[in-house]
Amino acid sequence: MNPEINLIILAAGLGTRMKSRRAKVLHRAGGLTLIEHVVNTAMEITPPEHITVVVGHQAQDVEATLSHRPVQFVHQTEQKGTGHAVLMCRDSLGSRPGYVVVIYGDGPLLSAATLRKLIDEQAGAHTAATLITTKLENPRGYGRVILDDRGMVAAIVEQKAATLAQAAIRLVNSGIYCFRAHLLWQHIGEIRPDNPAREYYLTDMPEIFRRAGYDVATFELDDPTELLAVNNRLELAEIDAAMRARKATELMLAGVTIEKPETVTIDAAVHMGIDCTVGPFAQILGPSEIADDCEIGACSIIRNCVLAAGVKIEPFTVIADSRIEAGAHIGPFARLRMNNVVAANAHIGNFVELKNTRFGDGAKASHLTYLGDSEIGDHVNVGAGTITCNYDGVNKHKTRIGANAFIGSNSTLVAPVEIGDDSYVGAGSVITDTVPSGALALGRGRQVVKEGWVAKRRSHKKK
Ligand code: UD1
Ligand code: CA
Repeated sequence: MNPEINLIILAAGLGTRMKSRRAKVLHRAGGLTLIEHVVNTAMEITPPEHITVVVGHQAQDVEATLSHRPVQFVHQTEQKGTGHAVLMCRDSLGSRPGYVVVIYGDGPLLSAATLRKLIDEQAGAHTAATLITTKLENPRGYGRVILDDRGMVAAIVEQKAATLAQAAIRLVNSGIYCFRAHLLWQHIGEIRPDNPAREYYLTDMPEIFRRAGYDVATFELDDPTELLAVNNRLELAEIDAAMRARKATELMLAGVTIEKPETVTIDAAVHMGIDCTVGPFAQILGPSEIADDCEIGACSIIRNCVLAAGVKIEPFTVIADSRIEAGAHIGPFARLRMNNVVAANAHIGNFVELKNTRFGDGAKASHLTYLGDSEIGDHVNVGAGTITCNYDGVNKHKTRIGANAFIGSNSTLVAPVEIGDDSYVGAGSVITDTVPSGALALGRGRQVVKEGWVAKRRSHKKK
């Protein structure tokens, strides 16, 4: 049987170095808050009822952010340090068997595979704990790990307390530990705030265990990337870039062509099929599903959308919360605001806006159009400059256009209004009443022609 794993995520701190009113773990990188990344990883290791998030600063907001993930919360009302934060969990976890894994909410790049290796290392050892370490070119800000002659941890020295010689040590504490549960709970109360910051440092545990006759081992990673923590906004940007690069790499290796991958922004929750292409500076955000053979043009923004196979999005198009069916062709410079369904092989061209609209199979709106709260039938042709007047200043109303209708250019459709199948609306019409199927509707002033008018006017000109 696998041993029980309880995982503690420390997320109570404000993060002074962020210079923000918002708790550090609520800042976003790679399309999610830092804490969501960390909890998602934790959930690959152990079920949510075995995950405890220690919250303090903006606890309510952190809990709300995680409301879809049934994890446990422990409150640390005063942030007296990482050791104190873990101590707060003793009431709920103190009698649990197995292992306790501690990770920090500000390290969103950590992978579940690495955590699993850490747990395996600890499970095969007699030590009280194993901690992940790595060597950094620039270890500034991290706790330095001092090893004894057997390679066990003698002490962890925080930046603030480090001597010059200690500060030169490049082996750093990642803040990720696997403890034998009963030993952690037995000894954690021994941490004392005897440091310049008057904090209870979890990093005192190796020395405490040594005094009790137990060792703490290290598990050193060659590549430090996964262990990077966010302490300021520069690091937030670096981690965001690392996540973007990781996602782009994953998609390229899975069969997506990305032009200038360093410029695109694709959220972790996006799925894309093979032979899709993504142009420079495109953004694909939220949980979007993009099927095979789609083209996402340069500088387009696709948020929370489902695109079926072979959809072509031309550059500078913005689409949110919409579904686009196979073979549809949209843009450049189109905007699909929310809750639209564009059926197969439809065409939406430049400067066309759709909101809450179903746009039929093979229908076309090629230029300069607003369709709001409307149902556009199959194979309808919407002429340039057509506008649905869906809003009367108080309420929104529907426009329905039947299959194969032809709406002449510059028509104004005053909702609520219905236009029947196979009908025609003359260019420049203002349509306020139902147009029956098969009819022609003209709603415009008749053209007046005055023959010879110009010559007459010129002869009246004052000499
Ligand atoms: C910590 C480690 C350091 C390590 C580094 C790795 C300690 C004393 N130092 O330093 O050795 O190299 O992480 O990134 O552990 N937190 C709480 N309650 C508190 C204090 C902190 O929940 O009272 C949480 C924070 O929200 C954060 C995490 O613990 O998610 C780490 O705290 P932080 O202040 O960033 O620690 P570092 O100084 O970076
Ligand atoms: Ca930190």
